[in-house]
Amino acid sequence: MASLVAKPKSKIIRILDAGAGTGILTASTALYCLSMGCKTVHAVLYELDSEAVASLKQTLNIVQYLFCEQLGTFTYEICCEDFVIARPDKEKTVQPFDISVINPPYFKYSAKDSPYAKAVADLYHGDPNIYASFIAVVMACMKAGGQMVTITPRSFTNGLYFKGFREYLLTESALSLIHIFKHRDKVFNNDNSAVLQENIICYFVKGNTVDTITVRSSNCDVNINNADENQYPAHLIIDSSNDQRIIRIPESAYAASILKQAETFKTTFEDAGYFISTGRVVEHLTRQYITEDTSAENTVPLYRPHNVTPLTATWIGNHKKDVAFKLNQDHDKHTVKNGTYVLLKRFSSKDEKRRLVASVHLANMHCCKSIAFGNKINYIGILSSELSTIEAFGLATVLNSSFMDKYFRCISGNTQVNATETRVMKFPSRDQIKEIGDQVQKLKLFETAIIDLIVNPVLGVVNSM
Ligand SMILES: C[S@@+](CC[C@H](N)C(=O)[O-])C[C@H]1O[C@@H](n2cnc3c(N)ncnc32)[C@H](O)[C@@H]1O
Repeated sequence: MASLVAKPKSKIIRILDAGAGTGILTASTALYCLSMGCKTVHAVLYELDSEAVASLKQTLNIVQYLFCEQLGTFTYEICCEDFVIARPDKEKTVQPFDISVINPPYFKYSAKDSPYAKAVADLYHGDPNIYASFIAVVMACMKAGGQMVTITPRSFTNGLYFKGFREYLLTESALSLIHIFKHRDKVFNNDNSAVLQENIICYFVKGNTVDTITVRSSNCDVNINNADENQYPAHLIIDSSNDQRIIRIPESAYAASILKQAETFKTTFEDAGYFISTGRVVEHLTRQYITEDTSAENTVPLYRPHNVTPLTATWIGNHKKDVAFKLNQDHDKHTVKNGTYVLLKRFSSKDEKRRLVASVHLANMHCCKSIAFGNKINYIGILSSELSTIEAFGLATVLNSSFMDKYFRCISGNTQVNATETRVMKFPSRDQIKEIGDQVQKLKLFETAIIDLIVNPVLGVVNSM
């Protein structure tokens, strides 16, 4: 992380460490500066845990010694306080910084009640995670041209919770490099617990703009310097076609080619005329409506994720997880009109190869006026009228294709498929969707193996895998 930093112009280099721990990042950064010929370095380190301070001092004293050996000067200040609440950028006595290399803490907090939300309200709004607030305050502490390197979960790169944060960050600075770890369980496993979040390293320069962004990806079990490295136009990585400013991360040149092809689609999912909503049934709030007696009178099927199998939804009432939804009073708050929809799983399980799993629910599958969809699935239709069977199969086929799955992975590192991201995804036209649906229907091949063979030619996808 320290080696990403370029030699700053200042005579005295000021380093900021927020959440310093035992000081490994500041030590590496200061020594890297020394190796670039920067002889005078001053570091300010924030660490809330007073028990870490003795080790932190020990590290920094070693750095001091190493500087002395090379006739340099390293000085430091430790602030044993809460970095976000302290807001050093607001302190008149604190000079702005040249470099910050950080590994902030990660935890969620409530945007409504947490003092952290209040502390950063002048920087950005949202409902994110403490790491975003660390980054925002660090950015506010940097001088123009100041460099910040972060290691964090990938979660800030997409999603509504981080929209305000992305807006702040990408307005204040240029993101010029992203390093992604392909197999997250291998590098971060020192306590034998696999890291479930995808983590990325990012390099930002305050007040800059860039035309290209470098994306590095490495397998975690090999030296980080053996990373696969590619450069892409900034607009391919940061989507500026809507107000979400999603940061897309292609893990390979092949994934980037998918992203580029998707960018040539003339429309988005939403602009094509489709809607996507999360199923209305929140099971723990509607227990009185749910029954395992799937043939009980005055009930309708309640679709759960296991009912969403590629291409055709299956609810026959005899699977051990099948349940029905009673049409009690006020059921219409939780049910929707029975019609033809495409169902898209919101969460893929760990053993599922695909992030996107879609299936068709046809109106005539069940003879009822309403139908119930659980909130672990999304349902898709068209805004103006009813989906035809052909279009529904076309949609489900496209969503189950390798192309869409790879494209989605560039947008999101999460196993969750949110309606917000889906709405702004570039999407084939309705005519293309219908053409695909028509072929699926004619061939009567509702198998995933042939999906790519049908989808790729219609979308003009070059399969370079
Ligand atoms: C993920 S660790 C990183 C430590 C170190 N930078 C490293 O990379 O090894 C985050 C550190 O932030 C500290 N921390 C957590 N909340 C803090 C806060 N509000 N203000 C300052 N430090 C905090 C923790 O005690 C912890 O040492």
